[in-house]
Amino acid sequence: MRRLARAWRRLRNELNKRLVQFQNGVLRNERVFGHPFHLTLEPGNVCNLRCPLCPTPTRESRLPSGLLSLADARRILDRFPYAVQLVLSNWGEPLLNPALFDIVREAKARDLSVRMESNLTRVRDGQLEALVDSGLDRLVVALDGASQETYERYRVGGVLETVLANVRRLRAVQAERDDFRTTVVWKMVVHRWNEHELDRARDLADELGMEFEAVTIWTPDDRREWLPSDRRHAGRRTEDGGPARCHHLWQSVSVNFNGDVFPCCSEFAPSDRLVNVLDEPLAPVWNSEELRRRRRANRGPVNCDQCHGDKETRWYQTWMTPAPPGPATPGAAPDTIDGEEEPESDGGPEAQRR
Ligand SMILES: C[S@@+](CC[C@H](N)C(=O)[O-])C[C@H]1O[C@@H](n2cnc3c(N)ncnc32)[C@H](O)[C@@H]1O
Ligand code: SF4
Repeated sequence: MRRLARAWRRLRNELNKRLVQFQNGVLRNERVFGHPFHLTLEPGNVCNLRCPLCPTPTRESRLPSGLLSLADARRILDRFPYAVQLVLSNWGEPLLNPALFDIVREAKARDLSVRMESNLTRVRDGQLEALVDSGLDRLVVALDGASQETYERYRVGGVLETVLANVRRLRAVQAERDDFRTTVVWKMVVHRWNEHELDRARDLADELGMEFEAVTIWTPDDRREWLPSDRRHAGRRTEDGGPARCHHLWQSVSVNFNGDVFPCCSEFAPSDRLVNVLDEPLAPVWNSEELRRRRRANRGPVNCDQCHGDKETRWYQTWMTPAPPGPATPGAAPDTIDGEEEPESDGGPEAQRR
């Protein structure tokens, strides 16, 4: 009986996903029939590193910060019975949350595909074993360079050798348990000071049995010195004819550790909050006038500017001011360099101007 119920839930959720994807990809309707199937859930918006363009160490976000508990994670997931994809990281370092792999296990028991992005600089005893045993689907490791000098340019406070040693230990645990359910990914945020190491990083990733992803660094307009000099790594999307469309508003939502729900992962002001799902369900706001207005504004090319309510935050003013007209790169939305944009990836600045 239980197996039958599970099979039915899977079928129902797959149908919901396809229905919603069709509306996102083709109709761009302002009233979405169906439920969000993609969830970004913040395990904790706190971090041990000080990456210079990240709003967490610079404290530009106005949202409350803290760690997600297992009990709250359960209650939040209960509100999203149609979810099939979970990104369990957003604006902090997920490994700092001691309940993290209990939350992953909870999500896996609900048949969610779970992705997590981590700097992998600080690993507690037993955490790598818990990671492998949890059945996490995809671990994306922030590795922005193949030498300490380039790596720490952005990952301030991080030690490359520690991260590589942690990856090796993780691979050893996987081998020991003969459990390779977790795909381990080397993610390189490409900027001016590491772009010359792309090939070396790719080779190292290969040696470690990791997939390789490279994204162009996302910079506010006043920090363009970070942009790579090689135009192939700097905003290909604008050269290709404008940013991609926003998919968040049609198929996903982002939830802070305290249950506050936002229309996308670039939340940064309390006024963007739709509802708190620890108190209330999402359904009444999923097609509210406010969300429909945002969908109308983003029917065509992405227009985050029309989305965010609070334009007074420093975060808005530095990251969301429009890039000046002109060809090519500066201020352009970052793009994946290797291959297609991955729809599952929601976390972090790379997703912000989609
Ligand atoms: C905000 S981080 C949080 C997760 C984790 N602390 C980490 O750094 O991987 C989410 C994602 O954003 C990426 N990221 C950070 N700063 C970025 C930037 N300026 N441009 C593009 N991606 C960035 C990170 O590499 C990571 O994949
Ligand atoms: S990008 Fe990640 S590692 Fe860097 S400060 Fe932000 S949350 Fe921390």
